[in-house]
Amino acid sequence: MPQKCLILGANGQIGTELVIALRKKLGNGQVIASDVKPNKAPDQEGPFIQLDALDESALRAVIVQEKIDTVYLMAAMLSATGEQHPDLAWSLNMNTLFHVLRLGKDGLIQRIFWPSSIAVFGPSSPKDNTPQLGIMEPSTVYGISKLSGEMWCQYYHQKYGVDVRSLRYPGLISYKSAPGGGTTDYAVTIFYEALAQGHYNCYLSAEATLPMMYMDDAIDATLALMDAPSTHAKPGVAYNLAGMSFSPEELSEEIKKHLPEFSISYAPDSRQKIADSWPKSIDDSWARKDWGWKPKYDLSQMVHTMLAHLK
Ligand code: SER
Repeated sequence: MPQKCLILGANGQIGTELVIALRKKLGNGQVIASDVKPNKAPDQEGPFIQLDALDESALRAVIVQEKIDTVYLMAAMLSATGEQHPDLAWSLNMNTLFHVLRLGKDGLIQRIFWPSSIAVFGPSSPKDNTPQLGIMEPSTVYGISKLSGEMWCQYYHQKYGVDVRSLRYPGLISYKSAPGGGTTDYAVTIFYEALAQGHYNCYLSAEATLPMMYMDDAIDATLALMDAPSTHAKPGVAYNLAGMSFSPEELSEEIKKHLPEFSISYAPDSRQKIADSWPKSIDDSWARKDWGWKPKYDLSQMVHTMLAHLK
């Protein structure tokens, strides 16, 4: 049976590229893009439905009408914005997940993808090579919503057999669509500023090392996880996922290899505290062992690719 997917949050940083990748793989008609906002890529071939993922009955109607079997729930409020709007972040991040999990429980869809994050870890978690299991204690609303969501995914899988799959994404770097409201977003903005101004004033400190990943790797990982048999990619598990780790200073040094005039200054703001609470690097050995994960991009390839596309 051909897969038919619905992507919630298709206008976002990950959603934009996921829609393109899924359409390439399954055919345009098999992939319905949806977002609470109007279609931002109307030139793209393929169906779009304007839909608020918080509206459970509207969501159910689309699932039934369009005979959707797989949902990618990419609508979320990220860490920095979440601290400004804690109630809204909790409501959006949790209620949309419950709506989709209930669709699974009721047998209306067969498979779900729900993104988790390195934000599930907190100040008491080990910083280097942070393992899959261990002390979590997230300190942001976003992190609390992601850790709670992971537990609910596990619960719906164990209790109702829902096939829900998840990855703990690191900071994601891409050029097709800008991120919004995250702590790791500096690693995208820096490229635009480097090319436009030759200078970037960074809101994190020079040495704030964080786990990061180029978007192509994140999309590959997502498709591989969703395609793998459930004996390998285990439903209910939110897999640690690693690509590369670097600090703002290391990133700026790499950019200087291409743009020797580039300069950076540092003015850490409230996001520094969030970055301090997260791991510096991630142990993703479960993902490597269970479903064969391996990233393609390191720091130098990522910088080269970003600059080549943005120039
Ligand atoms: N990139 C996200 C953020 O910074 C982390 O998952 O909020």
